[in-house]
Amino acid sequence: MSDLQFGLAPKMKPLAPRRSAVVAALDVGTSKIACLIARLTPQPPQEVLRRRSHAIDVIGFSHTESRGLKAGGVVDLAEAEVAIRHAVDLAERAGRCQVEAVIVSLSAGRPSSELFAASVDVPGTVREGDIARVLAAGSRSSVRPGRVVLHSVPIGYTIDHERGIRDPRGMLGQRFGVDMHVLTSEAAAARNLMLAIERCHLSVEAMVASPYVAALAALADDEAELGAAVVDMGAGTTTLAVFTGGRFVHADGFALGGQHVTMDLARGLSAAVPDAERIKTLYGNVLGGAMDDRDMIAVPAVPGDDREPPQFVSRATLTRIIKPRVEEILEMVRDRLAASAFAAEPRGRVIVTGGASELTGFTELAARILGRPVRVGRPLGVAGLPEGAKGAAFAVAAGLLVYPQVAHLEHFDPRRAHRTRAGASGYFTRVGRWLRESF
Ligand SMILES: Nc1ncnc2c1ncn2[C@@H]1O[C@H](COP(=O)(O)OP(=O)(O)OP(=O)(O)O)[C@@H](O)[C@H]1O
Ligand SMILES: [Mg+2]
Repeated sequence: MSDLQFGLAPKMKPLAPRRSAVVAALDVGTSKIACLIARLTPQPPQEVLRRRSHAIDVIGFSHTESRGLKAGGVVDLAEAEVAIRHAVDLAERAGRCQVEAVIVSLSAGRPSSELFAASVDVPGTVREGDIARVLAAGSRSSVRPGRVVLHSVPIGYTIDHERGIRDPRGMLGQRFGVDMHVLTSEAAAARNLMLAIERCHLSVEAMVASPYVAALAALADDEAELGAAVVDMGAGTTTLAVFTGGRFVHADGFALGGQHVTMDLARGLSAAVPDAERIKTLYGNVLGGAMDDRDMIAVPAVPGDDREPPQFVSRATLTRIIKPRVEEILEMVRDRLAASAFAAEPRGRVIVTGGASELTGFTELAARILGRPVRVGRPLGVAGLPEGAKGAAFAVAAGLLVYPQVAHLEHFDPRRAHRTRAGASGYFTRVGRWLRESF
């Protein structure tokens, strides 16, 4: 828990490029928990997914109902603890191994991105030590009371007034600068999730933003290069991450998701929530068809009582209830994207993940409202996933397994980072590796 007190979410030791490792991913969502245990094995450079240094093989998997969460955040520690224990236990049994530490995703806590530019004077040429100094200056400006830094990513260097420098070492100049993307979240949301996990006698190896890892799992290399946004619409949250020039430059999120659609339906039909959930996933549609007024769906009149005759509603009625909420969420996504660097990427496409993106007609409606090409994102390049986990709802969980391969791209102030499990000793090697591999 100590890292959080210093304003940093836990960060893991970067994966050694030539070593195999076994890692565990835990996605504690509002509606479901997914726990994945995987073996990461070094692999030669691939043609697709070029940035992946390791192959991922899932050896243990579980998918269980979540408890004690609201809007992506833990609201009941005891309930969440039981649910997490159960999920990890099942994955351990399936993988025949024991989990001690997990990489976890965070969707709650109002993620907020800031770009910082920091600069330092250099004596004629830029040396390794200057890079460390300027990165430290960049990450110091990011500390805010009540918030924790989830990600801190250098996105480009400047020398004097020259921008977009890729590798500044040895270049001539007087003033050397860095642009950094720092993503923070409310400290309370991070703390409560960590508490729930630590009560299960597990340690949190790294805590990362859900939309970022959804992107790591579902984005093709070219999409990240050309500019793309990943939108993860879960049960209680909708979060988004923007990539330009292959870099993670922005994230955002709010507390609306598929659960709100279900609640609208339960109210609109006077149905029980589980019935509304079932009807939504089976018959829900945001587009509407010509025959929808005549196509009737049975809704149990009294929950759990089969003796009462059901009421019948048309498919068109379902669409009339569901669509406004989905539109509201997509309009919020549109406005948040418009306020981000994505606005400058007219050719960038949107990749949707999360269970709620599986609603019939969702991508079409999203394309219309966002004014962009939209596709559903699924976990890419992850072997051994069971059939039920190959879809959009598991992009975040799968992305947590990709994260160790890119953990070295992040920078944290070494004076604070020495308190994290990454340790101060690895810091300069990490900066060096970042320079070599991120361009
Ligand atoms: N086929 C489907 N059609 C419509 N909605 C669906 C479908 N499948 C799943 N959903 C919805 O997706 C949501 C669950 O998605 P997901 O598993 O990504 O959420 P979560 O991770 O538990 O929540 P969050 O990330 O918001 O904390 C639920 O609201 C569910 O109703
Ligand atoms: Mg989720």
